[in-house]
Amino acid sequence: MKQYLFSNWKMYLDHDQQMALAKQIKELSDLGVQQVVFPNALSFMAIHDVLKSTSVQVGMQHVIAPPQGGYTGETSAYLAHQAEATHALVGHSEQRHVFGESNEDIAKQFLACLDADIIPVLCVGETAEDKAENRQEYRVKKQLLKALTGAPKEAQFFVAYEPVWAISQSGVGEACDPEYAEHMLAYIRTELEQYTTQSIPLLYGGSINEKNVVSFMKKPHIDGVLVGSASTDFEKYRLMIEQIV
Ligand code: PGA
Repeated sequence: MKQYLFSNWKMYLDHDQQMALAKQIKELSDLGVQQVVFPNALSFMAIHDVLKSTSVQVGMQHVIAPPQGGYTGETSAYLAHQAEATHALVGHSEQRHVFGESNEDIAKQFLACLDADIIPVLCVGETAEDKAENRQEYRVKKQLLKALTGAPKEAQFFVAYEPVWAISQSGVGEACDPEYAEHMLAYIRTELEQYTTQSIPLLYGGSINEKNVVSFMKKPHIDGVLVGSASTDFEKYRLMIEQIV
């Protein structure tokens, strides 16, 4: 089965740092792991240019649904497609919880990505409060329902399970127990059956690094990882790739 290493650079690096990292990652393409990097939107075109002759794909961290119009500060799935983005993160927890994106916004963005020929990476995951109340399955069930009701069953997409409490803050964080992630991804896989006829690759994200990546990747329901902070450090990135090929 194919393995995936997706890198969410968030807003950790400035333009020159992103360019330097992309040039280093270029040397690690064609290793049999599907790599997608999600740079800052301002650097997207330049990073795409560096990686365009390689197997490393470049995605958007965030897109909105309306294709064009009076939406100051935003970028649509349609415009991202024109810029040759292959993937887009949809419903990342920082968009949900820092910028107040609703399940309804996320459902629209998901459909807009499909319409624009962009593969959505739907991010779901419970908060610490949900977990304390043992509502993790309820939370992801609801997030899947809201995002996927109305989506065509033959659509191709990814789901990234990212428990909000496990996502690092400026690089400091604690990943969840791989057993816990495996249980949640098995649950997500079963839930997905009602929404799709496709085999949907499932990713885990939240404080993945070069030390713990293997313990997640060897779980049967985890097809790949979505890495934030550790993916912005080339040495850590190289070690992650080398261990999962
Ligand atoms: P992290 O971020 O690896 O820094 O925890 C993951 C994510 O938010 O996608």
